[in-house]
This record gives sequence, structure tokens and C-alpha cells, in this order.
Amino acid sequence: MLQRPRRNRKSPGLRDLVQETKLSSKDFVYPIFLVEGSKQTQAIKDMPGQARHSVDHALKVCEEVLQLGIPGIDLFPKIEDSLKNKTGKEALNPQGLVPRAVREIKKRFPELVVFTDIALDPYSSDGHDGLVENGRVLNDETVAVLAQQALVHAEAGADFVSPSDMMDGRVRGIREALDSKNFKDVGILSYTAKYASGFYGPFRSALDSAPKSGDKKTYQMDPANSREALRELKLDVAEGADIVMVKPALSYLDIIQLFKKHSPVPIAAYNVSGEYSMIKAAAERGWINEEKIMLETLLSMKRAGADIIFTYFALEAARSLKD
Ligand code: PBG
Repeated sequence: MLQRPRRNRKSPGLRDLVQETKLSSKDFVYPIFLVEGSKQTQAIKDMPGQARHSVDHALKVCEEVLQLGIPGIDLFPKIEDSLKNKTGKEALNPQGLVPRAVREIKKRFPELVVFTDIALDPYSSDGHDGLVENGRVLNDETVAVLAQQALVHAEAGADFVSPSDMMDGRVRGIREALDSKNFKDVGILSYTAKYASGFYGPFRSALDSAPKSGDKKTYQMDPANSREALRELKLDVAEGADIVMVKPALSYLDIIQLFKKHSPVPIAAYNVSGEYSMIKAAAERGWINEEKIMLETLLSMKRAGADIIFTYFALEAARSLKD
């Protein structure tokens, strides 16, 4: 035998030297759930280890995020039912939960990269990402509202707005709105290939944001399709996206790899709630080693081509990478 691949696996030092992909806390963005009030940390039943935080507690979480070397956070609000309506108008309230949190966080931690989610589902009594009329989710009317939502977040100080709604043309609509108000340095991370997935279940129960009727298949992508993801990629880049995202991550590593080949801009992967909770549940039963599986799945996303990983495991993974 002239070739013996095992020679390169002989010792830990050698394995370190030949390791092709390195996972780091600097790869992560930590999604934080927000709730009204003060001194609140409400555990999320379907996502063990995650909680909804009032803004004051969210600040403590941000401090820990930075201490662990994690560069960024993403914010998701739990909106009270009384504030939800057909038009999702609370999404445009400059004193709303997200803009208030962004202002506080950027004041205390200017170096933390703050992403905000652009979509109407947490604010809409229909539980859809866009405006609903006669059972249809309207596209262009929704884009106009999302552009306003992006402006509210930009005014509060968000570094990046992240449209997760999958309406056509929203990246351009948001870019034009931001530029018209001189927010030239506020970036857009677009959820470019977002699939109509069963893996969002725990997130929707955390925010009580599930669609009241129908599903999201007229705007989110069919899990069967990959060439369609390339079409979305071309459009989002042409419309001005600064970062493109594939979501979910674990069942879509092929899409991440495809983006790696074709995308001129950085790629983010969203390790979504269902992927997180599956691992937590199996670990609780003692069926898997949580730490190993967590790091292995995150590594697989990086190996597939993700530059950035949005993950609820960010804190735990950063801690375990430190040791
Ligand atoms: C909706 C949105 C969803 C997630 C982030 N933004 C869910 C959905 O499309 O219903 C899911 C994140 C997760 O599951 O972790 N705008």
C-alpha cells in the first residue's frame, strides 16, 4: 500500500494540523427572544435552555454573548395578543419591543452586531409573514410594510435587517427605503432560500406565531427544490443583499454547498428551533451525547460552506469550544 490515509490521523496534534474546517465562537449569531416587562426570564417549554427575556435581562445575555467571543445577536419579539391585528401595525411602532431593545443594546454594547427580523408573523393576528386578504398573502403591499419596518429598526440602530418573509422583491424594496433615509450602512441579510419546513415548530410555539389558517407554502420554498434556490440567490444578490441565508440548515446542507459555489456574498445558515430541540430531547433521554452532536452538526454546516451560523446553541457551543 502506497497510500495510507490513517498516517494523517495518528495523533491529536497531527489531526489538528490536517483539520480542514475549524468551528469558532466567531462563527455564531445568537437568536434572543424578547418579552415585555422587567426582570423576566420565561423558559420556553419546547426549547429547553432557551427563554424569552425582558429587555433588562436581554442586556445580561448580550454581555455573556460578547464575553464568549460571539459577534452577533438576532432579536425575536413575543408580542401580546392585544397588540396583534390584521395589518401587523405594531411592527411599525418606534416604541415597540424590538426598537426599544435595539436602542438599549446598542447603547450598552456598540460593538455587538445586531440583526433584527423583518416579517409580520409575530405581529399579525393571521400569523402570516405578510398581509392576508381573502385567504391570500399579498406580495407588493407586504413589501411596502416591510420596508417601513426595516426603517424603524434602522432608526433604532440595528446593524442589519433580516427579511425572513420570502416576499418577491423585498430586498430591493428595503434597500431603496433604507437608502432614501440615508441608512446606507445598514446591511440586509436576506433569508434567501427559506423552506416551508416542519422544523420551525418550537419557534412558533415560543412566539405563538403559527399561521391561524393555511400554511406558508405560497411564499416559503418547497423542500423538494434546489435549482429554485439558485434563482432566489441571483435575485437577492441583484437586489442588494449583503448576506444570504439558507434555512433550515441541517436538512439543507446541499443548498448551503450550492450557495458556496455560486454566491459572491457571505452565506449564513440558520440552525433552526426544531434542529435544536431534537438534539435536546434525545440528550434528555440519554440517547445521544449532546455536546458531541451539537458540535458535529454545527461543524457540518460550516463544512458545507456557511460563513455564519445562527444557532440557539451559540452559548453552549462557545463554552465547549473554549475548553
Ligand atoms: C418567520 C420566522 C420563522 C423563524 C424565523 N423567522 C418561522 C416561520 O417561518 O414560521 C424560525 C426560526 C426557527 O425555527 O428557529 N418570519
